[in-house]
Amino acid sequence: MNRLLINGGKALHGKIRISGSKNAVLPILAATLLTTDEVTVYNIPHLHDVTTLVSLLGEMGARVTVDERMSITVDSSTLVTFKAPYELVKTMRASILVLGPLVAHFGQANVSLPGGCAIGSRPVDMHIRGLEQLGARINVENGYICATADRLKGACIVMDTTTVTGTENLMMAACLAEGTTTLENAAREPEVLDLAKCLIGMGADIKGAGTDTITIEGTERLSGTEYRVLPDRIEAGTFLVAAAITGGRIRLKGICPEMIDAVIAKLREAGADITCGQDWVELDMEGRRPMAVDIKTSPYPGFPTDMQAQFTALNAVAEGASTISEAVFENRFMHVPEMNRMGAVIRLEGNTAFIRGVRRLVGAPVMATDLRASASLVLAGLVADGETGVDRIYHIDRGYECIEEKLAQLGADIRRISP
Ligand code: EPU
Repeated sequence: MNRLLINGGKALHGKIRISGSKNAVLPILAATLLTTDEVTVYNIPHLHDVTTLVSLLGEMGARVTVDERMSITVDSSTLVTFKAPYELVKTMRASILVLGPLVAHFGQANVSLPGGCAIGSRPVDMHIRGLEQLGARINVENGYICATADRLKGACIVMDTTTVTGTENLMMAACLAEGTTTLENAAREPEVLDLAKCLIGMGADIKGAGTDTITIEGTERLSGTEYRVLPDRIEAGTFLVAAAITGGRIRLKGICPEMIDAVIAKLREAGADITCGQDWVELDMEGRRPMAVDIKTSPYPGFPTDMQAQFTALNAVAEGASTISEAVFENRFMHVPEMNRMGAVIRLEGNTAFIRGVRRLVGAPVMATDLRASASLVLAGLVADGETGVDRIYHIDRGYECIEEKLAQLGADIRRISP
């Protein structure tokens, strides 16, 4: 199994380009199932999760063409099955995103129910209930969500919980429903807005995406389009923390700074000097040790749960004490025991981590448990004395394109070891 070996202690300096967003590209690829015309998506990041979704579309019979300039064209006119099998869904929960498009366009879907995962139980009741309100008939049988429908009918759907992929699934389905759908308490994440922009390019009538009320006028048919996916705000935030934690100075190109306002505000509070342009951000820590910052995660535009583990690493070596409260997922602190093995002083009480910053961490073999936890262990390794070996890095390959190459380009001593 591949590992990352990091020798800590090097401040990061230089420039890198941020890749396309994982959490935007996955729903956009699922949206290609809403039309029988070709859809071409640009700025596709080279990630395991993208490969998994492409395999799923291919297994269903879609014709998928991957271009070496990292664009993907999908033609769903050749679909032969409407099944997302357990074997694929268990490796990537976001496979649930095909449920809405399949039932809206083809009138049937058979999608394995995702189980819990390392960060929480993560039910999909809002997806199912919302589709039922749009007129789908749904049974859960043998671990599969079996949905059938004639043409879906628009409805007013108030979601109990703000859910990103739930909002995306229902917004996609509503595009082909008869009449008007209103999604209330919708997720406001930039990835929801990016999906809406792609759907509008396909001919959908969507208003309010990016706010908590989205209105969709259904149409009988959507057409093909070409769409460029937005940059990955979580990758950007992770690299900014990497520079801050090592006392370095980096510039990120090809990003939308306003999408990471909450992260930038916390990094400034930690002592970083940050300047932003239209599509770049520069962070300068001037060799200083970061100051501890308190964090509470919440849906966008609040502080993202996907940046919580990285800030746990920052606070672990910061000056002062801090608390980090995780309010989106119930079990997203699997990185804490691993960081404590590296000399961090972090105490967990329910969904809050109490952190006393230490001057130095010490390199150790550590185990990645999920995507963002693995990123945080790499960050900890960048500041630790000696060598840190991060195991199970298939988690990191799901969501970070060439992380070791980008970090090495910034001066980190990091390499991938294959047995
Ligand atoms: N929830 C329910 N019922 C539902 C749906 C969600 O109770 O039907 C709960 C979840 O259990 C959780 C909360 O609502 O406690 C929010 O979950 P959400 O549905 O928003 O998460 P998601 O859509 O499954 C996406 C991202 C995650 C990111 C979260 C929160 C994708 C593919 N995944 O997941 O990304 O953490 O939103 O922002 O967009 C990651 O990239 O590392 C990652 C985990």
